[in-house]
Amino acid sequence: MIKFVLLAFLVGAAVARPETANKEFLERQKAVLQLLEKVQIPFYYKEFEEIAQTYQPLQHLQNYKYTEGIKYLVKAHEQHELMPKSKIFSLYYPEDRKQAIYLFEALYYAKDFETFYKTAVYARYVANEQMYVYALTTAVMHREDTRGIKLPAQYEIFPEHFINSRAIYQAYKQKGMKEGSTVEVKNTWFSKKNWETLLQYYTNDLSLTTHYHNFGKSFPVWWQYVYGKQLDRQGELYFYAQHQLLNRYNMERLSHNMPTVREVQWDKRYVKYGFNPQTIYRNGEEFPVRYDDMEIKDVHDKKYGKILVRDVQDYERRIRSAIDKQFVLKGEYQVQSLNNTEGVNVLGQIIYGAHENQEAHHYYGKLNTYSHALLGRIVDPEGKYNMAPSVLEQDVAVRDPLYYNLKKQYDQMFQKHKYLLRPYTKEEIEMNGVTIEDVQVSELKTYMEPYEITLSNIFDETYKGEQEQEQPMKAKVERLTHKPFQYQIQVNSQQEFNAVVRIFLAPKKNAFGQKYSAQEQAWKAMELDTFITKIQTGKNTLLRKSAESTVTINDYTNMFDLKNKVKDALQGQGEFMFDKDYRHCGFPAHLLLPRGKVEGQEYALFVYISNYDQEKVSDAQFSLKQGVSSICGTMKGKYPLSKPLGYPLDRAIPEEHVFKTTKNFFYKNVVIYHHQQQHHEEFNTKFIHH
Ligand SMILES: *[C@@H]1O[C@H](CO)[C@@H](O)[C@H](O)[C@H]1NC(C)=O
Repeated sequence: MIKFVLLAFLVGAAVARPETANKEFLERQKAVLQLLEKVQIPFYYKEFEEIAQTYQPLQHLQNYKYTEGIKYLVKAHEQHELMPKSKIFSLYYPEDRKQAIYLFEALYYAKDFETFYKTAVYARYVANEQMYVYALTTAVMHREDTRGIKLPAQYEIFPEHFINSRAIYQAYKQKGMKEGSTVEVKNTWFSKKNWETLLQYYTNDLSLTTHYHNFGKSFPVWWQYVYGKQLDRQGELYFYAQHQLLNRYNMERLSHNMPTVREVQWDKRYVKYGFNPQTIYRNGEEFPVRYDDMEIKDVHDKKYGKILVRDVQDYERRIRSAIDKQFVLKGEYQVQSLNNTEGVNVLGQIIYGAHENQEAHHYYGKLNTYSHALLGRIVDPEGKYNMAPSVLEQDVAVRDPLYYNLKKQYDQMFQKHKYLLRPYTKEEIEMNGVTIEDVQVSELKTYMEPYEITLSNIFDETYKGEQEQEQPMKAKVERLTHKPFQYQIQVNSQQEFNAVVRIFLAPKKNAFGQKYSAQEQAWKAMELDTFITKIQTGKNTLLRKSAESTVTINDYTNMFDLKNKVKDALQGQGEFMFDKDYRHCGFPAHLLLPRGKVEGQEYALFVYISNYDQEKVSDAQFSLKQGVSSICGTMKGKYPLSKPLGYPLDRAIPEEHVFKTTKNFFYKNVVIYHHQQQHHEEFNTKFIHH
């Protein structure tokens, strides 16, 4: 009992709890949902028309903290310089990005919610839909007065980017026949000549794609100090989020005996594998298909201007050289050391392209942006065929396997940096008198499950009033998930202390059955959970559920349900709970475990316990909880733990016994089984013969 109270105190002190929404919050939540509904119809709601016609932003400049953004928006609109509606927006295009940032600023700097709302309605009227959604959702994530507001998932705002054109077409056809019906989406297909297709259920996962996209909005590469808050450890989080994404992807490949991904072959200027996205933009343009054995060429088109392969190679070489020398240039005669814990943050910002410093910007360049451009435009580098932006230049970039080849490239650079740092000594990682005696994990079983999303936003129709609202059309996809599981950790301690418990999963062997060394395992590990708990003197049993993982977030609420919940709460029926620290970013909970194999796939599980008080960040606002995780950081203030992300597996392990003999570190084998349901088999077979 005492133990429970103490724990509750420890956690309660640090974590903001979900609150019941008051009327003001509900009105704001409702407004944001409406603003993101059917963005292709500017005046879907009648209020929008009134506001857009009468609101004159320039007469309310005193309501904006800085006015540059809003002035730009109005002027560009009047001079017909804004990106037109229904054109395809890409954040990688310099002009599109510039406009999107101005639009973000106009929304972000509105001093009160009313001004923000009116600006959003105005923007919805004048700006390109995709750009508008990007700027608006990013502003909602970062504004103080919209904290806790839930945004609809990107896959419900632009379903076309996420599910194939056959399903979208089917939805249009079905729409006239029966209201509220469901379209079965076969988002996977398989060709024996293209083994990469085996992984589509994973790379096409709606939440995975959305998580990646939301990371980009949580830590925009263009974020500036003037926005009034710093994005704590942005560069390091970029490294770690990508590192985890890559490790998780490689584990999924292992489930099919597919080797880990290779780097992009810039030297040979060659991309081996093609990719067929099978998706069509809302305006009817196709996401370009890439064929096998393509040559990487310089890009020279209207959107990008000139981007040279040689420039990317130069940037990369300079960054590699900085890694080897362990310092980066910060300008004339100025250097910044990388030989420390913060080095990865500096390096991460450079590779991401979020430079704080102009000289560095010039010298280390825009490696990531240029790489996406060169690989994304590979089928039309000169703009001769007027092709739409590719998957790699969109919110769905992780759908393309080539994305992982590129991230492997960066991952090797980060590894090089990390392995030049001094390895942790036994004294550093050991905690005297603390022993993990045993770890038990309940059954690890994965299977496929159906998942539904709302398709309403793809249809152009007029608003029929609240009463008239019919059941929305839905799409049903299949996705990987797992049975909930639980860890039981036995700890014996000679002292009472606050502990950080870190749990990782790592592959044991590669796809060819060769054993990984301890160091390889550590670098390929995926973080499953990190939590803070109290340890008593003597024996402790820590129970932890998979659903509590701080690395993951649960499903985004379906747009239709979200709307209804808000409506009900506004009418006094039922409560609407919200959490001020809610994050739209986080690894999807249903993908926490890799698929494994029907006959079982062996993995290693690492559990590590260390002293929380030694790495507590005293001015951090809250402790760890769902979504406030090692891969998404915190939205406001400091990240609550000071150790490097991935600690203690993030550095070289020249001597295995350092970990093996550390008693507060535990290693065990676990097996993940994939349960193949009958209907899933049918689902696949039916489709192969299609
Ligand atoms: C990096 O720092 C360590 C101390 O943490 C030091 O021993 C080592 O010499 C440094 N390396 C370089 C290249 O300065």
